[in-house]
Amino acid sequence: MRKPFVAGNWKMNMDSQTGPALAQGVAEGTSGVAGDSVTVAVIPPFVYLPVVQAAVGSSKVAVGAQDIYFEEKGAFTGEISPAMLKDVGCTYVLCGHSERRHVLGETDEIVNKKLLASLAGELLPILCVGELLEERDAGQTEQVVERQIRAGLAGVDAAKMAQVTIAYEPVWAIGTGRTATREQAQEVHAFIRKLLGEIYDASVAAEIRIQYGGSVKPDNAKELMNEPDVDGCLVGGASLKVDDFVAIIKAAV
Ligand code: 13P
Repeated sequence: MRKPFVAGNWKMNMDSQTGPALAQGVAEGTSGVAGDSVTVAVIPPFVYLPVVQAAVGSSKVAVGAQDIYFEEKGAFTGEISPAMLKDVGCTYVLCGHSERRHVLGETDEIVNKKLLASLAGELLPILCVGELLEERDAGQTEQVVERQIRAGLAGVDAAKMAQVTIAYEPVWAIGTGRTATREQAQEVHAFIRKLLGEIYDASVAAEIRIQYGGSVKPDNAKELMNEPDVDGCLVGGASLKVDDFVAIIKAAV
């Protein structure tokens, strides 16, 4: 049985006061469920990782990073290494978020390097995939998602897949208020699981957690997560408010 996994991607939001307050509110609001019946993570901007880590304290709310660089150290101005993320208490790291792909120009090859570097650095990657609106309209959703998954996971063996989470985030549903219907989400999640069965084996496919992301709110979270292959959510906007994010986490239980 897969434990649901709800993560809040804060993107480029919050500050040194509001960030820790939000994290603490999430920790308090989910005590008793976080870590036991649902995996919970908050994913703040790099600069707030230490204060957010301190704010979640000894609770079972994990902390993740929004990005990573794939070199160990050296002359890479502006970048953050796997060891640095580990050093400030990160557990998870997003790889290939759609904003990194489509706003910052990350390729499948870069995403793959970041995912491999995360695993090598003992961080748990969340590989984000999803199609643009024009790709969906052109009937290319499965083709795009398959390419992103195959390329993103290149060089990852079955044993390492226990450390990987997939997040399906249709780009047209991110920050638009236009959520995928539960049928649309389930269709792609089932496709991803079947694909992982082909690339790996039935047990990898059965055990991997696949989150849905894109305008998840307290009022649609439950119906999405009730779908058999939707194992949690990657939440943007609604993860910035304690009450909304806690409600989404509780909808997973
Ligand atoms: P929204 O929930 O704001 O649509 O963002 C989704 C997302 O991109 C999470 O990574």
